[in-house]
Amino acid sequence: MSAALKNLDAYWLPFTANRDFKKKPRVITGASGHYYTASDGSKLYDTFSGLWTSGLGHCHPKIVKAVQHQVATLDYCMTFQVTNDKAVALADRVAQMAPEGMTRCFFTNSGSESVDTALKIALGYHRARGEGNRTRLIGRERGYHGVNFGGMSVGGMVPNRKVFSANLIPGVDHIRHTQDLEHNAFTRGQPSWGAHLADDLERLCALHDGSNIAAVIVEPVAGSTGVLPPPVGYLERLREICDKHGILLIFDEVITAFGRLARPFGAQRFAVMPDIITTAKGLTNGVIPMGAVLVRDSIYDAFMQGPEHMIELFHGYTYSGHPVAAAAGLATMNVYEEEGTFEQAAALEQHFEDLLHSFADHKHVIDVRNFGLMGAIEMAPREGAPGARGGEAHKKCFWDEHLVIRNGMDTLQFSPFLNSRPDEMQKSFETIRRVLDTIE
Ligand SMILES: Cc1ncc(COP(=O)(O)O)c(C=O)c1O
Repeated sequence: MSAALKNLDAYWLPFTANRDFKKKPRVITGASGHYYTASDGSKLYDTFSGLWTSGLGHCHPKIVKAVQHQVATLDYCMTFQVTNDKAVALADRVAQMAPEGMTRCFFTNSGSESVDTALKIALGYHRARGEGNRTRLIGRERGYHGVNFGGMSVGGMVPNRKVFSANLIPGVDHIRHTQDLEHNAFTRGQPSWGAHLADDLERLCALHDGSNIAAVIVEPVAGSTGVLPPPVGYLERLREICDKHGILLIFDEVITAFGRLARPFGAQRFAVMPDIITTAKGLTNGVIPMGAVLVRDSIYDAFMQGPEHMIELFHGYTYSGHPVAAAAGLATMNVYEEEGTFEQAAALEQHFEDLLHSFADHKHVIDVRNFGLMGAIEMAPREGAPGARGGEAHKKCFWDEHLVIRNGMDTLQFSPFLNSRPDEMQKSFETIRRVLDTIE
């Protein structure tokens, strides 16, 4: 290992068991296409395309070139009161791909920031329309909306909330999640059972009165909790209930936007139109951190009142619409279009589904789930050691098989490249089976 990697003391890794990691660090030093290079020089196949981020593969030459050019042309420029050409162009480009009528785009630097921005826009929208009483926010159990206080509060993953429980923002409730192994285990695609779970929103409307609720936020397909596709009819039902009570529907598409569901947005795949969409990750292929929030024109218009010299929304980040990030985003959108990436993703879905579901017979496996190019294999926890099987699988894949896989506890999650080669995808799953066979 190089001298630079010898001392890891200063480094506190996010969402990682630090002490365990530092005993034998897994350090990546390079990447190209579908492979990483580790600090020992080995090449590893990436089954997670970054962290759901890099659907086009790593170091795509066209994105690299655009970033190199931009950083030497305009490295930074504030976007408060002035702006840059790349941010303008990217907003327009993304708006053109968005569901009809969602043509306004606010830039952030991450999924977490997109979520908190969306929640603030929802609250500001109602207030601007004279419905300032609509302050309550509704999330869903097992939802993941990032780690800032707003997103954490509407989120529903217990370990992320536990330590901060007393400080979560007030006025937030959660509807039930949709996983029920008794009814849904081993479903290919959307489960046919479970649309009625959306009616849980009616329960909260009855409790608080719908007129006090500002917004409901869900991931169209829950990702980080271990891939939960929505039951057939579920998102439609949520939309209906929101319309009935005047509640905004926010789709958190940080994972599902930009091809993961073979469309620009998951909303288009499900033909259910939200009022606000949050994005990040695939916006720049993960190359430069960036997020975007898309809103219906009517939401934007509601803010555009009062004296024209006044700021309409007191919100924004130093790096909102950063020119280098926006250049990466524009290059990414070009590649999606030129290479037909979303069509490539669609063509891979069946193969991916078949490979995943071939694990249904494995001794530890209690569920397999998939939608688009999102998939999960859930193993039963080992008695007294939840998470151990998943963690061992991850490490064995890395060290023994040169494969990067992601586990959330005992659930292996998959986010293949949108342009994966079918033979490489197959090989990676053969390897994973070999590894799982060795795990007690
Ligand atoms: C649906 C969803 N929302 C928000 C986030 C948070 O994004 P970030 O880690 O970029 O803040 C994620 C991250 O995985 C996500 O999956």
